Amino acid sequence: MRKKDHINIALSEKTIKTSLDSYRIDYNSIPLIGINDVSTKTNICGDEWEWPFFINAITGGGKECNKINDILLEVSNITNIKFFSGSFSPALYNEKDKIAYPKNNTLNIGLDKSVQEILSSLKYTNAKYLQLHTNPLQEMIMPEGDKNFENWYKTLKNVREKTKIPIILKETGFGMSENTIKMAIDLKLDAIDISGRDGTNFARIENIRSSTPSPYLEEIGYTTAFSLEIAKKYRNNIDIIASGGIRNPLDIIKTLALGAKACGISRVFLDILINKGKNALINEIQKWQKEIVYLMIITNSKNIND
Ligand code: FNR
Repeated sequence: MRKKDHINIALSEKTIKTSLDSYRIDYNSIPLIGINDVSTKTNICGDEWEWPFFINAITGGGKECNKINDILLEVSNITNIKFFSGSFSPALYNEKDKIAYPKNNTLNIGLDKSVQEILSSLKYTNAKYLQLHTNPLQEMIMPEGDKNFENWYKTLKNVREKTKIPIILKETGFGMSENTIKMAIDLKLDAIDISGRDGTNFARIENIRSSTPSPYLEEIGYTTAFSLEIAKKYRNNIDIIASGGIRNPLDIIKTLALGAKACGISRVFLDILINKGKNALINEIQKWQKEIVYLMIITNSKNIND
């Protein structure tokens, strides 16, 4: 029920203006490269990805949510972009959800869970990447939220020590501070997804669900651009992933120019899937793939590093 609420409320909002709007990309009237000169490949956690954008975590439990995951997995296979399923949390307590969670792909789970729960979920899903999400503000607002914040750092450290699988520390729409980024580097995590405060806002979603809302909490956190500006000087120490309010290929190109190696999209893709269907989402992703190449050409960028 909570997941369904989240989806319905998230889709009732639209991202119109974001922090990326105040940046402009290079525009070359006479480009020096052509379509065949461009490589869109990127390297995340030591793996090569064909495209620098992916379907980011949305859902992982309940009959309807499992159906969404099945379709997103199919879309990602057809379009050759990565797909990160949403939180495994509902599956921890429900056998049917456990069985339905995508296997051999990715695991998304929160730092509120115990080390044992995280490791056994990894074993069960045989995931290739571990996306550990951190959302203290949301947990604080949710009446049913976890309140054992003092354990989160220890959990992160312990999980890192106990598994070699690539770990992505993922925000959920509040952005990351320099302290958090440094912590991720010190703990030898493989990547951070700074997930900034420009798109889906879980403080707002929980306020809408709450009978005693605290709207001022929606102002906490850092925008996607601000977090990327902080993160970019650590680009050689950890892989930087951007998300939060990504609306189109131009936003992706801007985040890459700000130092990200890949970019995650949740709400915009979910919106297309729910309101227009699977084929519309496939067409949209393929359109983005074509346009990313064009944008790389007008910025004279042969590859993601450029
Ligand atoms: C999310 N997000 C999310 N993140 C996560 O790590 N685990 C999860 O289970 C979920 N669930 C979820 C449900 C719904 C309906 C939405 C829209 C989002 C957060 C998501 O991955 C991302 O960090 C933020 O939504 C910001 O990106 P967008 O939505 O602005 O593209």
